[in-house]
Amino acid sequence: MEVDKKEEIASETSSEQVVNPWEVSAKDGGRIDYDKLIDQFGCQRLDESLIARVERLTSRKAHVFLRRGVFFAHRDFNEVLDAYEGGDKFYLYTGRGPSSEALHLGHLIPFMFTKYLQEAFKVPLVIQLTDDEKCMWKNLSVEESQRLARENAKDIIACGFDVTKTFIFSDFDYVGGAFYKNMVKVAKCVTLNKAMGIFGFSGEDHIGKLSFPPVQAVPSFPSSFPHLFPGMDMLRCLIPCAIDQDPYFRMTRDVAPRLGYSKPALIESTFFPALQAKNGKMSASDPNSAIYVTDTAKDIKNKINRYAFSGGQDSIEKHREIGANLEVDIPVKYLSFFLEDDAELEHIKKEYGEGRMLTGEVKKRLTEVLTEMVERHRMARAAVTDQMVDAFMAVRPLPNMFE
Ligand code: TYM
Ligand code: TRP
Repeated sequence: MEVDKKEEIASETSSEQVVNPWEVSAKDGGRIDYDKLIDQFGCQRLDESLIARVERLTSRKAHVFLRRGVFFAHRDFNEVLDAYEGGDKFYLYTGRGPSSEALHLGHLIPFMFTKYLQEAFKVPLVIQLTDDEKCMWKNLSVEESQRLARENAKDIIACGFDVTKTFIFSDFDYVGGAFYKNMVKVAKCVTLNKAMGIFGFSGEDHIGKLSFPPVQAVPSFPSSFPHLFPGMDMLRCLIPCAIDQDPYFRMTRDVAPRLGYSKPALIESTFFPALQAKNGKMSASDPNSAIYVTDTAKDIKNKINRYAFSGGQDSIEKHREIGANLEVDIPVKYLSFFLEDDAELEHIKKEYGEGRMLTGEVKKRLTEVLTEMVERHRMARAAVTDQMVDAFMAVRPLPNMFE
């Protein structure tokens, strides 16, 4: 039986920064140390050579999230590329826990990136809406979680996924059959001690929480989708997500070989930070810390001007003299996620970092970039009908999913 050393150790290591699906907090309210996280979790760094390889294999420029290090860590992504180079395809799996009506910009990151991967590699995609998870973790009724799942599906569809290659499912609707059989197989491989180590469950948690991790695990196995992947049990799975989801997939990778399945590969991102730069990630719990896809142009402008943490100096004189501290500046950070033009970003960093550009000017440019993006999303979302949601969520074969 194969035991992955690093994955074993990761579950038992504790440290001052906390990153798991429910909590992201840096040491002393500072910044997340992503290098440390790679060591602690036992993932691999996504280096330049891997990015160059993606460009070669897909014959297109790497996505800005790759070029700028937003997606910075992986597990076995190189193996997926080896297989792809040899003519073997793979499928993509990502998801969303529908806990709120509107998505914030951080939530869009994995979906924007997944869309790029789907187009660049021409592969199918499954998207899990964990309405069961949010019903158990948040104070939401079954019906309300289901409603939110459908609402969130519209935002996800608005990111531009191809209906001929994409299956979206909600756990409440889809779990059963082959999917449920895989859940039971996974559950039998994980002891209570192990789950407490990986997820931090305690004796006070209700047993619904304990039962959930297999639900998020099994979309990693093609046999959970008999309508999509019949007879393709060895098809590899690649999961794009932020690194907070890693515990679920450490568990999945640990049990996969025992079930005779391949381990899913992962490609993992850093967090899009809160406006105040305080906690580790933008989160839906404080509306003034987040920009939502439903915010108006005025909301966006006000939030950026009022709350975006600035690395500029207190007085103009001092700013002109020593320039902005780009390391802590949120407007520059946000631009590095969403301003696609590499040359313009470099120009802003240089001018602002050397004091020739002021915070107000950078915030103005950021407001333009985000307003345009949110506006585009709003229009795409408005065009998503209930029939389209039904089409994406129908249990059906996808005959041309690898073309
Ligand atoms: P959820 O809904 O909390 O988040 C959805 C996706 O968005 C990522 N994310 C972020 N990325 C960057 N910056 C942020 N500030 C930020 N906040 C959230 C999350 O990592 C996630 O990728 N349990 C999951 C649903 C799920 C899933 C999956 C996710 C089921 N299967 C497989 C990824 C892969 C959830 O509630 O995600
Ligand atoms: N558990 C995730 C959350 O609470 C949602 C989720 C389910 C997910 N499946 C996923 C996220 C796959 C990324 C990839 O945030």
